[in-house]
Amino acid sequence: MGLTSRIGQALTAREMLDLVKDDLERVEREISLESVASVDAVTTINRYLQDGGGKRLRPMLLLLASRLVGAVSDGSIRMAAVVEMIHTATLVHDDVIDIAKTRRGRPSSNTIWGNHTCVLAGDWLYMQAFQIALRERNFHVLDLLIALTQLMVEGELLQLESIGKIAISEADYMELVDRKTASLFSACARLGAMMGGADETTEARLGEFSWNLGIAFQLVDDVLDFTSNEKVFGKPVGSDLREGKVTLPLIYALENAEPDEKRLVDNVLKDGNYDRAPFSEIRRLIERHRGFERVRERAQSFTDKARAIVTEFPESPYQRALAALTDLVTDRDH
Ligand code: IPE
Ligand code: IPE
Ligand code: MG
Ligand code: MG
Repeated sequence: MGLTSRIGQALTAREMLDLVKDDLERVEREISLESVASVDAVTTINRYLQDGGGKRLRPMLLLLASRLVGAVSDGSIRMAAVVEMIHTATLVHDDVIDIAKTRRGRPSSNTIWGNHTCVLAGDWLYMQAFQIALRERNFHVLDLLIALTQLMVEGELLQLESIGKIAISEADYMELVDRKTASLFSACARLGAMMGGADETTEARLGEFSWNLGIAFQLVDDVLDFTSNEKVFGKPVGSDLREGKVTLPLIYALENAEPDEKRLVDNVLKDGNYDRAPFSEIRRLIERHRGFERVRERAQSFTDKARAIVTEFPESPYQRALAALTDLVTDRDH
């Protein structure tokens, strides 16, 4: 029997969104309320970032985890705002580091306000998130958030060290993904569980569910960086390799690539553009060696694990919603 039938009818994306729609609106109000600084530039940037949309996947995970184990409390709403603000801060800093031009289908904040202002705006957002978290008067929450933020920053630092290197191993890559993406996903579910009143075992189990989801999410993101288009994806395609990042589709392809194919990839890494080795040719090269297929299979193995953990929980709309969210991660196009 397949996992799908064991979990019953998974909800559609719309039904899942409906379950947390009111909660998410409260989260947006909380973020707006907490985005006002005494310096206008920060407030303006914060508003721009919030209006830019984004999938709000992390607050959604947190809220669903709370609902799964108990109820959404005021603390759940606050913590959902906290994780989205931390996520936003990392994106602002990430776009500065990556010299990105587009985010969420619009000019990224660094292109409008410049690096200096954006680094400080990101710092402000981090601290504001921590200040909101502090109101819980819960050391466990702070412990988790501080460890998480350090992991993510270390992840970005490790990523910097591997820039331009062609010989990245799958293990190196997985460590980066663990730090920069899965750790935050995991924290979201753990915090949601905590705020919903779950015991430590349940909290850890939901953390594991979400960690697996996070890994799959980044794997799919790295496939989409090659296979999507900017209009749908909301950020440029081909940017990872252009930025000097060798991600899993390419790691797999390079395992079996001919020397002249490797040279092609090396040219992009050296030049930081696709002038000598066209993007379409790189994409074909990965296809030829089943890079995308293998990464999608790998992502699927993580979502399968996530789904299996969800089935351990009693049947409820929230359980089915978490299963639906799991499908969304692998099926998404942006
Ligand atoms: C972007 O995350 C960063 C990655 C981990 C790939 P999202 O794709 O969740 O970004 P938004 O919030 O929807 O823009
Ligand atoms: C993920 O890094 C973003 C963070 C977790 C900081 P990427 O550089 O791969 O993300 P995108 O592609 O810019 O969204
Ligand atoms: Mg980036
Ligand atoms: Mg990326």
